[in-house]
Order: sequence, then C-alpha cells, then structure tokens
Amino acid sequence: MLWLQCFNLLAMVAAAIPYREYILMPDSRKLLPQSVYATTGTTVGAASILDNLNSSQSAPQLILSANSSVTYDYGKNIAGIVSVQVSRVSNPQQRIGLTFSESNMYVSPDHSDSTGLVLDNVTYLDTPGPGTFTLPPWLRRGGFRYLTITNEGVDEVQLSQVSTEFTSMPDYREDQLQAYTGWFNCNDELLNKIWYAGAYTNNLCTVDPKYGDSAQSAPPPGLPFTVGDYFYNLTIANGTSVLVDGAKRDTLVWPGDLTIAIPTSFVSTNDMVSIKNALDSLFVRQNSSTGRLPYVGVPLRATLESWTYHMHTLYSSALYFQYTNDIQWLQDLWPHYKFAMEFITSKIDATDLLYVNETAFRDWGRNSMGGYNIEANALLYLVLNVSVDLASTVQDTASGSQWKDIASRLRVAVSATLWDEEQGLFKDNATSLLAPQDGNSLAVKSGLATPLQARKISQNLAARWGPYGAPAVEAEIGGKTTVSPFAGSFEVDAHYVSGNPQRALDLIRLQWGFMLNDPRMTQSTFIEGYATDGSLVYPPYTFQARISHAHTWSTGPTGSLTFYTAGLRILSPLGKTWIIEPNLGDLTRVDAGLTKSLGPFTIKMTVKKGKQWSMQATTPTGTSGTLSLPALGCKARVSLWSSQGSDSKSNDRSRFAVCCEGGYWDLMGFFLTM
Ligand SMILES: *[C@@H]1O[C@H](CO)[C@@H](O)[C@H](O)[C@H]1NC(C)=O
Ligand SMILES: *[C@@H]1O[C@H](CO)[C@@H](O)[C@H](O)[C@H]1NC(C)=O
Ligand SMILES: *[C@@H]1O[C@H](CO)[C@@H](O)[C@H](O)[C@H]1NC(C)=O
Ligand SMILES: *[C@@H]1O[C@H](CO)[C@@H](O)[C@H](O)[C@H]1NC(C)=O
Ligand SMILES: *[C@@H]1O[C@H](CO)[C@@H](O)[C@H](O)[C@H]1NC(C)=O
Ligand SMILES: *[C@@H]1O[C@H](CO)[C@@H](O)[C@H](O)[C@H]1NC(C)=O
Ligand SMILES: *[C@@H]1O[C@H](CO)[C@@H](O)[C@H](O)[C@H]1NC(C)=O
Ligand SMILES: *[C@@H]1O[C@H](CO)[C@@H](O)[C@H](O)[C@H]1NC(C)=O
Ligand SMILES: *[C@@H]1O[C@H](CO)[C@@H](O)[C@H](O)[C@H]1NC(C)=O
Repeated sequence: MLWLQCFNLLAMVAAAIPYREYILMPDSRKLLPQSVYATTGTTVGAASILDNLNSSQSAPQLILSANSSVTYDYGKNIAGIVSVQVSRVSNPQQRIGLTFSESNMYVSPDHSDSTGLVLDNVTYLDTPGPGTFTLPPWLRRGGFRYLTITNEGVDEVQLSQVSTEFTSMPDYREDQLQAYTGWFNCNDELLNKIWYAGAYTNNLCTVDPKYGDSAQSAPPPGLPFTVGDYFYNLTIANGTSVLVDGAKRDTLVWPGDLTIAIPTSFVSTNDMVSIKNALDSLFVRQNSSTGRLPYVGVPLRATLESWTYHMHTLYSSALYFQYTNDIQWLQDLWPHYKFAMEFITSKIDATDLLYVNETAFRDWGRNSMGGYNIEANALLYLVLNVSVDLASTVQDTASGSQWKDIASRLRVAVSATLWDEEQGLFKDNATSLLAPQDGNSLAVKSGLATPLQARKISQNLAARWGPYGAPAVEAEIGGKTTVSPFAGSFEVDAHYVSGNPQRALDLIRLQWGFMLNDPRMTQSTFIEGYATDGSLVYPPYTFQARISHAHTWSTGPTGSLTFYTAGLRILSPLGKTWIIEPNLGDLTRVDAGLTKSLGPFTIKMTVKKGKQWSMQATTPTGTSGTLSLPALGCKARVSLWSSQGSDSKSNDRSRFAVCCEGGYWDLMGFFLTM
C-alpha cells in the first residue's frame, strides 16, 4: 500500500517536467523574433513586431523603405517556415528578400550562410498586396538564429508580423514540445546549460523525413533554380520523424552522428521512433551481395564505402535496442545485422586485425583512414562487444561465441601492434607514429585498452588540450588542426571510463563551454567543428559558411553527464539491469533522472564540506542492479525497501558496491580519505 502511494507520487513529480526552465524547446510552434540585431537603410518600428508583447504599445508595424533591411534575432537557433503579414504595399511589384544565418558571422541582406559550397542566395517572397505570405515547405530553413528581411521592391512596404512556424520534432503535439522525460541539474550552471543545449541540438535535428537533404535537393525542372538556392525536399526515410546529422545541413542520416546522438535523445526526450526510422533508412540500402551498409542514408551515395560508418550503424542499432527492448525489430533485423557483421569481420586478416582497404577511406573528416587503423579496430571491438549481447538476446549462440572469440584475439593483436609505450598512446596504424584522438578515445570507451593503458591515454590526451578544447590531430588540414566535438565526445567518455571523471568535467567545461558561450556561436546548439586556434574554421571543409551550428555528433556530454557524473546507466534492454555509480568530481550536488516505460530511474546526490554525502535514488521494481558508491566509511544509514543488500564486490578501494533489486534508497556516507 505504502509502496504504491510512493510510486504514484513519483509519477506525479515526473509529470511536472523537472527543470523545465532550462529546456530550450519553445512552448509554441509559432515563433516571433526576440530582438533587432541590425538594420540597413530606412526602417521604422523594427522593434514593434518583437515577441515582447506589450499591451500598452500601439499596433505593431514595421515600415521598410526600398532597399532597406532589418535583421531579427530569435535569441537561439531555431528551424522552420517563415511567414510575413503585410499590411500595406505602395507598389504591386513588391517582394521581400529573406536571408538566414545560424552564426552572426554570416548575417547579411545579400546572402544566407550556406547549405552547400557557395553562400545561399536570397530567398524571395512576392508580396503584391496586403495579406499573409508564407514560404513553401521545401523553403523551410533547418537552422537559423538570425533572419534578415529586405524590401526588394521599389517603394515602401509595411509589415505587421514576421513569424516562423517551428518545424522540428514533427511528431510532437504543440503542447508536448517541452515534454522531456529526462533531466539533469547540478550546482554548476554551465554544465546544466550544456546538457540542455545538447538535448536541444538533437531536437532541432529531428525533422520530417519528407524535407531532407538541404544540399542535394532541387526543384523539378521548370522552377527557377540557381547555384546557391537551397531546398529541403528529398524524402530520406520512412515514417513521420527522423533524426539527422545537422539542422541546417546535411539533413541526412549519417551513421557516425547517430552513435553520439542516440544517448542524447535517450536521456532527454526518449524520442526513439526518430532513431528507428533513421536506422531503417540505412539498412534498406544494405548492399545485397556483400552486406555492406551505406556511408550515408541517401540513395545517391549508396555506393560510397566507409567501414567505420558501416560499424557506426551496427553500434547504433545495438544502442537503439538497449534503449527500447524492441525485440520484434531486432528479430526482423537479425539476418541483415549478421550479414553486415560477416562483411566487416571478413576484413580481418591473418594478423587478427581489421585491415581497412584504400577503397573504404571515408570517415568523419580525419586525414586518412586505412591499413590497420586504431580507430577502425577499436570501433570493431566496440561493435563485437555489443553484438555478443544481441546474439544472446536472439539466441544465436554460434554468432555470439564466434564474435567473442574474434574480439579477444583482436584485443591482443591491437595491443601488440598498435600500442606505443613511449607515447603512452595507440598509433594511428602500424606504420605511423601519429596518435589520434578518435582511435585512442574509442580504445578506452570500448574496453579494448587495458586499465593501465586507459589511464595513460586519459592523461596523455588531456596533456594536449589547448585553450579551446581537445585537438583531433588526425584531422590537421591546411595548416589548421581540428577540434572535433565528435571525436571529443568519445574523449569525454574515455576520461570517465578510465576512472578520471574530473578530467571529463574539465573537458566539457573547456570545450563545450566555449562552444556554448562564444559570441559567434548560437548560445543554444553545438557546432560541428572548428580549429584549435579558436577560429570557426572546420579544417576538413574548404568553404566555412557551410559549417553547421547544430550538429548531433557534438552532443556527447548530455548522455555522458547523465551516465557517468550522475552515474545513472542501464546495462540491459530497457533498464532490466542497471548501475548507479555517481562520480561528482568537484560538484557538490547532482539531480538526474530518466523516466522509462519500466518506471523511473532517478538519483540525487549532495556532498557536504567535501566529506559527507547523501543520496536518494530510485530504480523500477522488477529490475536489478548495482549501487556503486563512494566508500561508505564507518557509518551508513540505509532506509529502503525491496533492496537486498548483498556482499560488497569492488576491486576499487575507494568505492563500495552493493547488488540490489529495484527500489528506493536514501543513503548517506563519508568519503574515505585515501
Ligand atoms: C511597454 O511599453 C511601455 C510604453 O511604451 C514602456 O514604458 C515599457 O517599458 C514597456 N515594457 C516592456 C516590458 O517592454
Ligand atoms: C542598397 O543598400 C545597400 C546597403 O545599404 C547599398 O550598398 C546599395 O547600394 C543599395 N542599392 C540600391 C540599388 O540602392
Ligand atoms: C517537393 O517534393 C514533392 C514530392 O515529395 C513534389 O511533389 C514537389 O513538387 C517538390 N517541390 C519542389 C519545389 O521540388
Ligand atoms: C545565386 O548565387 C550564385 C552564387 O553566389 C550567383 O552566381 C547567382 O547570381 C545568384 N542568383 C541570384 C538569382 O541571386
Ligand atoms: C521505405 O520502406 C520501404 C520498404 O521497406 C523501402 O523499400 C524504402 O526504400 C523505404 N524508403 C526510405 C526512404 O527509406
Ligand atoms: C554492391 O557491392 C558490389 C560488390 O562490391 C558492387 O559491385 C555494387 O556496385 C554494390 N552495389 C551498390 C548498390 O552499391
Ligand atoms: C581493396 O579492395 C579492392 C576491391 O575489392 C581489391 O581489388 C584490392 O585488392 C583491395 N586491396 C587490399 C590491399 O586488400
Ligand atoms: C597510416 O597513418 C598515417 C597517419 O595518419 C597516414 O598518413 C597513412 O596513410 C596511414 N596508412 C595507411 C595504410 O592508411
Ligand atoms: C563488453 O565490454 C564491457 C566493458 O568493457 C565488459 O564489461 C563486458 O564484459 C563486455 N561484454 C562482452 C560480451 O565481452
């Protein structure tokens, strides 16, 4: 009885959407500009149509003289379809020019930022008389913070409203837009904002699959189309919502991005349908004679080979299954999954290592991918590890034991061939001394590196940080070294997994703090990449205005803060088993939660004077797991139900582990001084 009452209480608390004030998703689909960023020429009343509805003000009206413009700032990166309400025109030849930019670096009445390889042209809207004029759905803009409106006519025009219909998260009803199921809050406001900006980045990149591929879409013949026009009009997946790489571009399903993005969605919105649709769009393009999966989810490029991206699709599938327990999907997928596993494991040669053929050089933007490459081999180890569990789920014991065997031989061979004791890092490949960020981070994340190697890697990667973040030395192009929030998200996890949670927090604050707060950024979403000198130049690109400022592969810290700092991790599908292992670093308070079909997973922990901690945690009934806590010292007050505390099993003397049934715990303890 008491039991049920408490559960209902928790459900009610969850329904209130904890920490809603941090959620960047709008609460309505109709968005109005927040402020005036700039004007050119002669304008009157630019501020009158802002979103600060002030009843004492007279009716909103913006008067634009010919060849004059106003740049509005939406206050954060948004996505959608622009409408203008015209109250008066002086000449029926009237048209309005619209330009968009995510960063303030590309604000201009003459062009937008870019979805391709040139600046995008002005988008025109004919406004021959009073009325409401709206861009067609394929001229939605996937990411912009700044909107410039120019009077391209010969005489004055008067507007009473400029608005944007928010198009992201198309499956969500208007009153659900902020319905996050997970939360994260701690005593560091920067980390809180980073968590929510990562979640919002994914939100902006969750789109209607009928309006994808900003770079390659083009209208049917007959409509005027010039180089630099943008269109979002290719169908990129089945279903009504799909998670893509970036909001402005490519608006395509890219497997590497999914690997980082899926945990972000899981801990925030739990919007898993958009992920299923993305994965399905990749598997329908599996090569039926070889089993190879596509580099990217669009038909035009199905022939491009990337073995690393092939593996990201496999890893992402395992994540999706773990977060949903969608067993029917897994069973239907299994023959295709196995075929893809056969493809990639057939590339392992007599050395027990994966040899990446020169035809499969494509990857996330690093300089080269080939030979016995550490990134590819670490990814393979990661994929083998999760595939063993999948095989056991579908009772394919033969595959499971084969993959387990391959994994253990791979681990030995990688250590013997690619570990460089002198650098304390793995080499890029057998013939190179370059020690890449991606491969070293993945070697730790995947468990391929030994605990000793992992500690050295964490230390040596951290020693390379610059003022703007961690370098991806494997992507040094044109004299500039890349800061890749994609590879960097793996590095964050490497610090956690190697037992250095403080280093993970330090990197998140340094790199994602810069990405959030620098004035050239959107202060709401995370950029795709930049350079170690802090310039917004992404070295793999030759044209910089195309950089995406809302990229799902840059959102790693959102999942990692929940999984490792709050320490709330599920270990088997839908949380049937879990571990609660908070690692607060220099934080004194953390409060995080996931609300899943099985029930709530929550944790609150507070540290007093660096010595004493208290923790309240909940996991659903019918589940089981481990509480791994800072060593309890001499005193532990435990009030709980349905918990069977059993023997402490920990090889790390600073922690205390206890195995439990799902339930509620209210604990306190002291840190041992070592
Ligand atoms: C509302 O308008 C009045 C009169 O113009 C002005 O004094 C006041 O500051 C405005 N308030 C806000 C919140 O903009
Ligand atoms: C339009 O305005 C821009 C900037 O204000 C100016 O450079 C340009 O010469 C003007 N063009 C015409 C046709 O007046
Ligand atoms: C957009 O795509 C739809 C089909 O999905 C097509 O009917 C329409 O003509 C396209 N529009 C443009 C401008 O390409
Ligand atoms: C569109 O942009 C291209 C490339 O910048 C330019 O050559 C072309 O003139 C522009 N077209 C229009 C209609 O502005
Ligand atoms: C939609 O599903 C069908 C049936 O599986 C498949 O043939 C088609 O390629 C899918 N379309 C897209 C865009 O993924
Ligand atoms: C499938 O793989 C074969 C063998 O590599 C290749 O010849 C063929 O072009 C591939 N098909 C597609 C659609 O990529
Ligand atoms: C790479 O793949 C191509 C095409 O399958 C093959 O002809 C070539 O021998 C391979 N190269 C190596 C070094 O294995
Ligand atoms: C080995 O790595 C180096 C540095 O990244 C690269 O230049 C070289 O091409 C790689 N070797 C192969 C076989 O891909
Ligand atoms: C997968 O990796 C984890 C972490 O390294 C390890 O605990 C687990 O035993 C591995 N699973 C398999 C099936 O090898």
